[in-house]
Amino acid sequence: MTKRVFSGIQPTGNLHLGNYLGAIRNWVRWQDEAPCIFSVVDLHAITVRQNPAELRAQTREMAAAILAAGVDPAKAVLFNQSAVRAHAELCWVLNCVARIGWLNRMTQFKEKAGKDREGASVGLYVYPVLQAADILVYLATHVPVGEDQKQHIELARDIAQKFNNDYETELFVLPEPVITGPATRVMSLRDGTKKMSKSDPSDMSRINLTDTADDIVSKIKKAKTDPEVLPESVEGLEGRPEAQNLVGIYAALAETTPQAVLAEFAGKGFGVFKPALAELTVSRLAPIATRFRELLADPAYVDSVLREGAEKADAIARPVLDKVYDTVGFLRP
Ligand code: TYM
Repeated sequence: MTKRVFSGIQPTGNLHLGNYLGAIRNWVRWQDEAPCIFSVVDLHAITVRQNPAELRAQTREMAAAILAAGVDPAKAVLFNQSAVRAHAELCWVLNCVARIGWLNRMTQFKEKAGKDREGASVGLYVYPVLQAADILVYLATHVPVGEDQKQHIELARDIAQKFNNDYETELFVLPEPVITGPATRVMSLRDGTKKMSKSDPSDMSRINLTDTADDIVSKIKKAKTDPEVLPESVEGLEGRPEAQNLVGIYAALAETTPQAVLAEFAGKGFGVFKPALAELTVSRLAPIATRFRELLADPAYVDSVLREGAEKADAIARPVLDKVYDTVGFLRP
């Protein structure tokens, strides 16, 4: 089967090191391997209240950050989700295929809705069905994501399989999650048991791609750690979530393994390791931050990339949606 890659990111908040190491950097690698479609998922963003002017600005900013990180519009399709209507249209059909029981098991809904589940939007509840539509409408085979999206991609497979069974068709491809590298789950710098996240109220918990070199150095210096020295092997990191996280980040940025990082730093304390990590992080992120600022100064260019991307995406999605409509029995007069 020919490979096709789809992945998406929400335009809420800054692109942070977790997004970059867990997902975007892998998108950049995939664009040389297979046809790729990447989306800034603004339909998903409004499952929680957004300020319209900010949403528009953040959608453009996220697209600029993705381009700055190395996604090349000559190789990959980049667009904002609302510009391709097939996502919302397929989502409706899939809403009628997915089961309430399946959605009740989604851990991200439970986390995001918190205690006030009755007060959450219906959109937040069916969020994973829209995510399935994003992937299935392109018949994507591979979905590069961080660890936290695994359950949603598995749900997309279940929905695809049920649609195929119910309608006795092989229309949908079952997508594979691709979760690779030493940083598939980057943790908060303040608490090694919590994921690095755009929604964490403390900006000290994450490194943003827009941070200055001084910000990065100070965030890493203040990152929570323990008083022990670094061990000789990865087994020695067990029970030390903060140390494990920083070693994982170092390995991912240096494009090596945690074991190789420990071979270099075993027996050394964080007084030595943190400055080395800060220097490496700054050297890797500085070119991206520079390019990001250039792109922000040229919104017309970013918009033109998104516009052309939407046209290309629509040309792939539309015939698939037409087949779905025929399959479920919609009259197309
Ligand atoms: P989002 O916007 O939360 O995150 C975008 C990507 O970044 C990854 N990621 C992380 N990876 C490692 N460590 C972290 N701390 C970390 N935080 C985030 C995410 O796993 C993701 O790959 N629902 C999705 C967006 C989406 C999507 C899709 C993804 C919508 N439709 C279809 C794939 C396919 C989300 O909210 O990602």
